[in-house]
Amino acid sequence: MLSFIWAEDANGLIGAAGQLPWHLPDDMHYFKQTTMGNTIISGSRTFRSYNRPLPGRENIVVSSQTDFPAGIEVVSSIARLCGIIAENPDKEYIVTGGANLFSQLLSQVDRLYRTKIDATFSGDTYMPAIDYSLFDQIKSVKGVVDAKNKYPHTFEVFERKTN
Ligand SMILES: NC(=O)c1ccc[n+]([C@@H]2O[C@H](COP(=O)([O-])OP(=O)(O)OC[C@H]3O[C@@H](n4cnc5c(N)ncnc54)[C@H](OP(=O)(O)O)[C@@H]3O)[C@@H](O)[C@H]2O)c1
Repeated sequence: MLSFIWAEDANGLIGAAGQLPWHLPDDMHYFKQTTMGNTIISGSRTFRSYNRPLPGRENIVVSSQTDFPAGIEVVSSIARLCGIIAENPDKEYIVTGGANLFSQLLSQVDRLYRTKIDATFSGDTYMPAIDYSLFDQIKSVKGVVDAKNKYPHTFEVFERKTN
């Protein structure tokens, strides 16, 4: 199974100069909780934003390069990546971004973990357009807003319709 996880602002912005445009620890906690025990798949630019394998998860980076730290499985093509996913139908593979990788896998994704942030930011990287009529929303839960989490946000989950 193939999933995406990301957070976007009210305009669909996801990145700024290679980093996240916001600081939202509640979403980082949700990311950790959702991905833990699964395999995460990142484009090399997204990987470079944290630059180490995330513990408790298998880490795949999609790249034409090979200079990655120990603990990273480098996959050099989408075809090979799709082969790995097809070979392991009982596993959940979660794509953590960025926009480039999401675009290439959009037609194949089964589940979407979207954090919608009710604020606007400046940046340079946007989520590709998704046809949500192809998905059912199965969850919508408001996140915590407090001194450390200043922006209202909602954790949503969508699953691709089967017919
Ligand atoms: N808000 C969020 O939830 C969220 C999530 C993720 C990322 N982001 C942000 O998004 C931005 C990064 O996204 P991005 O779209 O610029 O980059 P990206 O998708 O993270 O990485 C793109 C790179 O991955 C490699 N790659 C992609 N497809 C490949 C393929 N088919 N074969 C071989 N290599 C491939 C290429 O680099 P090589 O040169 O290595 O081959 C490509 O330049 C950052 O600002 C990040 O912080 C935000």
